[in-house]
Amino acid sequence: MRTKFKAWTVPYLEEHQEVLIKVEELPFVSFASYSLEIGSGKGQFLIDMATKFPHLCFIGVERNTTCAGITAKKLVENPLNNAKLIYDNADEVLMNIQDNKVDNIFLNFSDPWPKKRHWKRRLSAPQYLESYYRILKKGGRLIIKTDNPALFEFTKEMMENSKFKLISITDDYQEIEEFDAMTEYEKSFRDQGVAIHRLVMEK
Ligand SMILES: C[S@@+](CC[C@H](N)C(=O)[O-])C[C@H]1O[C@@H](n2cnc3c(N)ncnc32)[C@H](O)[C@@H]1O
Repeated sequence: MRTKFKAWTVPYLEEHQEVLIKVEELPFVSFASYSLEIGSGKGQFLIDMATKFPHLCFIGVERNTTCAGITAKKLVENPLNNAKLIYDNADEVLMNIQDNKVDNIFLNFSDPWPKKRHWKRRLSAPQYLESYYRILKKGGRLIIKTDNPALFEFTKEMMENSKFKLISITDDYQEIEEFDAMTEYEKSFRDQGVAIHRLVMEK
């Protein structure tokens, strides 16, 4: 499911800076707790979580212009003071977050990068896990959902070699848990009857 480039999103992102934040502004977010979704796509998860939990803050990180623009439009049309978008690459963002700051990190249906030479780009590759561990608070959680069995196997293996503690794992995630929401990709996979894998890890 490749997102077709939509030219309107370029000026839209320029004109609607109010729904965006820069990573440098994160310490000034006036919420005691914040969660990141890395690769937040078109933003439905972000919006649903922020609506469901108005006392918590949810920040999407998305580098694709079209996806970021679509999310920005949803945030403009449905203003939420506890949902923001960082329109940037995760590498840049992670590098600029201080230690022990984040409550939860969500990886929802991350790009699978099937070719071995691209595995280091997977968002569950060791260098990312190290960053997640560093920025999470003690007891903070890394919550991963995917439809892709190969990516899930890789992720489990990388987790075993990390400092994270396993909380739960399933190859058939059916009922959406309370602290969760359905993403655009997830809806499409569920409609096709594709099994969802889910992994919860804790620092
Ligand atoms: C397969 S889509 C899933 C989108 C959404 N999470 C969902 O479940 O519907 C993966 C998204 O991650 C974004 N992404 C991948 N690598 C990224 C990175 N390093 N930094 C920021 N976004 C990234 C892509 O642009 C894409 O929008």
